[in-house]
Amino acid sequence: MEQPSEEKKFKRSLVTSALPYANGPIHIGHLAGVYIPADIYVRFLRMNGEDVIFIGGSDEHGVPITIKALQEGVTPQEIVDRYHTIIKKSFEDFGISFDIYSRTSNKIHHETASQFFRKMYDAGQFIEKVSQQYYDEQTGQFLADRYIIGTCPHCNYEKAYGDQCEKCGTSLNATDLINPVSVLSGNSPVLKDTRHWFLPLDQYEPWLKEWILQGHKDDWKINVYGQCKSWLDQGLQPRAVTRDLNWGVQVPVEGADGKVLYVWFDAPIGYISATRELTPDWEKYWKDPETRMIHFIGKDNIVFHCIIFPSMLKAEGTYILPDNVPAFEFLNLEGDKISTSRNWAVWLHEYLQDFPGKQDVLRYVLTSNAPETKDNDFTWKDFQLKNNSELVAILGNFVNRTMVLTHKFFNGIVPEKGALNEGDKEALNSMSGFPNRIATSLRNFRFRESLAEMMNLARLGNKYLTENEPWKLFPADTERTGTILNISLQICAQLSIVAEPFLPFSADKIRKMLNLAATDWADATRLEWLPAGHQLNPADYVFEKIDDKAIEAQVQRLMDTKKANEAQETPTSPMKPVIEYDDFSKMDIRTGTILEAEKVAKTKKLLRLKIDTGIDVRTVVSGIAEYFEPADIIGKKVSILVNLAPKNLKGIESQGMILMAENPDGKLFFVTPEEGSENGSSIK
Ligand code: MF3
Ligand code: ZN
Repeated sequence: MEQPSEEKKFKRSLVTSALPYANGPIHIGHLAGVYIPADIYVRFLRMNGEDVIFIGGSDEHGVPITIKALQEGVTPQEIVDRYHTIIKKSFEDFGISFDIYSRTSNKIHHETASQFFRKMYDAGQFIEKVSQQYYDEQTGQFLADRYIIGTCPHCNYEKAYGDQCEKCGTSLNATDLINPVSVLSGNSPVLKDTRHWFLPLDQYEPWLKEWILQGHKDDWKINVYGQCKSWLDQGLQPRAVTRDLNWGVQVPVEGADGKVLYVWFDAPIGYISATRELTPDWEKYWKDPETRMIHFIGKDNIVFHCIIFPSMLKAEGTYILPDNVPAFEFLNLEGDKISTSRNWAVWLHEYLQDFPGKQDVLRYVLTSNAPETKDNDFTWKDFQLKNNSELVAILGNFVNRTMVLTHKFFNGIVPEKGALNEGDKEALNSMSGFPNRIATSLRNFRFRESLAEMMNLARLGNKYLTENEPWKLFPADTERTGTILNISLQICAQLSIVAEPFLPFSADKIRKMLNLAATDWADATRLEWLPAGHQLNPADYVFEKIDDKAIEAQVQRLMDTKKANEAQETPTSPMKPVIEYDDFSKMDIRTGTILEAEKVAKTKKLLRLKIDTGIDVRTVVSGIAEYFEPADIIGKKVSILVNLAPKNLKGIESQGMILMAENPDGKLFFVTPEEGSENGSSIK
C-alpha cells in the first residue's frame, strides 16, 4: 500500500462519506469510522492547495425510516426533517468540513436518480422479472427488506432483517429467512407475485474481478479487498433495484405505480446529486478520469461501494470509478456493539451538552483509537486518560509553558535565536522530518499512525523544553533563554499546522495565540515560522483536565441504560385495566401466620393450611405444593384475603386465599408483611 497517489497524477479529488440514514441522531461510531477520517483527509488535501470537494448528506429513503414513522405515528418526511437537522448540526459542531451536506429527499436528487435509472432502463441494462415476495395479508402490503424479520440461515440470529443480518453481516433475500414474520402485524407472511427490475450483477463479475482483484490488490485496504474477493469468489447474483413501497424515488417507468428505487440504488447516486447541487461544474468531478474519487464508509457498506455502485457507474457509462474505498471496521462502546435501538451509544449532541467545547478531545480519542483495521473499543476511562495524559500533559502543556515563559521573560515578543548548540540543531533537524512523515501516513489512509506522529512532535517540544530548562537560565543568560524559547515557539507553530487536520479547533486556538496566519502544509517543513520581534497574543489553556466525576457520570448513564434494557428484555405481564378505589376496597386482606401445612392427598398442587388470621383460625387450600415443602412454611407470615367466598376443593372448604408474587418464569414467593406487624392487621 505504498503511495499509489503519488505514482498516478490526479488533478483533483472527490471525497464522499457515507450518507447516514436520517432515522436517528449520530453517535461516536459514525464519527470514528467515517466522518473524522474523511474530514482529516480532506483538510489535509486542502492545506496542500489541492482541488478537492467533500460530499455528505442524509440518506432519507429506505425502510428503517418508514418503520420509524409508523412506530411514531408520523409521516416519513417528518422523521427525516427532524433527524436531518440534528445530524447536520452535529457535523457542523464537530468541524466536519463538508463542501455540501445535502439530502436525498431533495428534488435534484429525485431527478438525478430517476434519470440514472431511466438511462440504464432504456439501454436494456435491467432484467424485468415477476417473482414472489412476502406479502402481509392483514395490512395488504408487500413486505420489503426490514418489514420482515426472521432467523438468519447463516448464523441463526433470530432477528435478521429481510435484506441483511446485522449479527453476521451477510446480505440476504427475505426468502432466505427461516420463520419470517411481518413487522407490521406479527403474522407470517404469504408469497405473492410482483414485478421488479434487477441489476444483473453476474454479468459484471468478470469485469469486477479484473478491476478489483487485479487492479486494486495493492492499493486497497486488506479488509476491503478481502470482502470484495469473498463476494466475487461466491459468485454474484442479479439484485432487485426496485421495491414495493411508497417512500422513495418513484420508478420512472409506465405502470410502476407503488414502486420505488431500492434505497441502495438511489443513495449512492446522492453523491452525484449533491455535487450537482454544489457546483454547475460538477461533471469534472464525476466524469474526468483525472479526478480521483475516494469513498469513506463503514465495513457494512463495502459491497455497495465496491461492487454494486461501481457496476451501476460502469453500466451508465459516463462516470469515473472510485480510486479507493478506505472502509473502516466498527467501534464498540465499553465492550458492546453500538446500537441505536438499545440506546447503547454516545450521541454526539449529548456529548456536547456534557463536554461543551471539547470536540477536539473526542476527535483525538476516536482517531487514536480508530477501528482502522479491526473492530475497536471506546471506553470512558480511556477517553479520560488520553485527554489528561496526552492532550493536556503533552500537547497542551508544551504550548502553554512556551507561551507563558515567552510572556514572562520577553513580554510576549518572539526572542532572537542566538548561537545553536548540538541539542538545538538536533531538535530543529528532528522537527523538520515530521510533516512529510505525517503526510505519507495520511496519503495512505493510516490515520492512527499520522496522529501518533503529530503527538510525537509535541513530545519532542516537551522534551526539548524540559531538558533545556529556560526558566533556570533567566535572567542570568537571557540570550540562551531566548534561543530555547524561539525554537520552542517554532515547534508550537509547526504543531499548529500539522495538528489542523486532526484537531481543527485547538490548532486554530494555538495559531491565534501565536498570532500566526499560515495554514499551508506545503511549507510545513520550514524551520522559521515566527520571526524574532513577532508579537504573540495572551497565553491560554488549549486543553483542560477531565475529572473522575465527569467520567463516572457517563459510565453511570451507560449502566442505567444496560439495566433498562435488561428490564425490557424480561417479559412482565401487561397491566390489567384500570379500576376504581371501591373495587379495591371490597377486598379484606389481613396479615396472618401459617400454623399447620400438609399435602392434600391425591393432588400434586394443593396444600391444606391452617392460618391464624388475627380474626380466627381457619383452613385455606392453596395451589403451592409444587413450590414449597409443608415443613418449611410452618410459622411463615403471609397476607391473606379473608372475605373471599368459601370454596370446596377436593372435599375441603377453603376459607380464603393467600397472596403470592409470581415471577415471569412462574416461580412463586410469599407476600410476607414486615417483621412486627400483628396478625389481623388489614392491608390497604
Ligand atoms: N445510509 C447508509 C448507511 O447508513 C449508507 C448509505 S451510503 C450511500 O449504512 F452511498 F448509499 F449513500
Ligand atoms: Zn446472520
